[in-house]
Amino acid sequence: EGKQVDLLLDWLRGSNYTVVFTGAGMSTESGLPDFRSSKGLWKKQDPSRVASIESLNKNVEAFIDFYRQRVIGVHEYKPHKGHHILAKWEKEGRIQSIITQNVDGFHQMAGSSRVHELHGTLQRVHCQKCGREESNERYLTGDVRCECGGIFRPNVVLFGEPLPQEAFQNALADSERAELFIVLGSSLTVTPANQMPVIAKRNGAKLVIVNMDETPLDGMADLVIHGEKIGELLEKLDSRLP
Ligand code: APR
Repeated sequence: EGKQVDLLLDWLRGSNYTVVFTGAGMSTESGLPDFRSSKGLWKKQDPSRVASIESLNKNVEAFIDFYRQRVIGVHEYKPHKGHHILAKWEKEGRIQSIITQNVDGFHQMAGSSRVHELHGTLQRVHCQKCGREESNERYLTGDVRCECGGIFRPNVVLFGEPLPQEAFQNALADSERAELFIVLGSSLTVTPANQMPVIAKRNGAKLVIVNMDETPLDGMADLVIHGEKIGELLEKLDSRLP
C-alpha cells in the first residue's frame, strides 16, 4: 500500500484541478453510521419506509423518528481530522472542490467552502406545505408541526425526488474539469451521484477510489485503495505533503 500512497501523492502534487467525491464512509470515523456496510442504516431499516417521498405521506411517524435520530447524530458528533485535512487542502489550493452525497454538513463545519451537496442537508428543514425554512433544532425535540398545519422535513433528497439542480450542475461541471477525481467512502451504488466519477474518467481525469469495500467502478479506476480507514489515510498523505 506504500506504493499506492506514493502514486496518489504524485498525482495530488501534479494535478491542477482535483475534485474529491465523498460518501458516508467519510463520516463513520466521526461516529455517524453509513448505509450499506455491515453496520449500515439500510441493514436495519428499509429506506423506502423511512426515507422516501411516500414515507413522508404514508408513514409520517416513522419518517419523523428516523430523521430525528439522524439530526441528533449531527448535533452529537462532529467532523474528524479527515474533514479538516480536506478543508486545509482547499485553502492550500491542493483540491478545488468537494462533491458530497453526505447530508451531515461536516465538510462545511470543518471549513470547506466549495462543497456541492448532491443529496441536500440535514442542517436545514422546511415545511412541506408552506415552504417556511429554518435550522434543524425543532427535529431534536420532534416538534415538527408547522403553524400552517404542515410538517417540517429535512432539506435532504428523499428516494423518488430529483436532486437539487444547482448542486448537480456544479458537480457535473467540476467532474468534467477534474484532472484528478478522488472518491472517498462511497459504495458508488446510487444514481445519478455515481455518474460523477464516470463523467470525470470519460473527460480524461485520473480516477482514484478509496473505500473499505469493493465498488462497482473499481474496474475503471486508475488506483483503488481498499481496507484503509479514510481518516488515517488522509493523515498519512497530509504528513507527506510540503
Ligand atoms: N474508511 C473507508 N471506507 C469506509 C469507512 C472508512 N472509515 N467507513 C465506511 N466505508 C465505506 C464502506 O465500505 C461503504 O462501501 O464507505 C462506503 C459507504 O457506502 P454507503 O453506505 O452505500 O454510503 P454512500 O455510498 O454514501 O450512499 C450513497 O445512498 O442511501 C443513500 O442518500 C444516501 O447519500 C447516500 C447514498
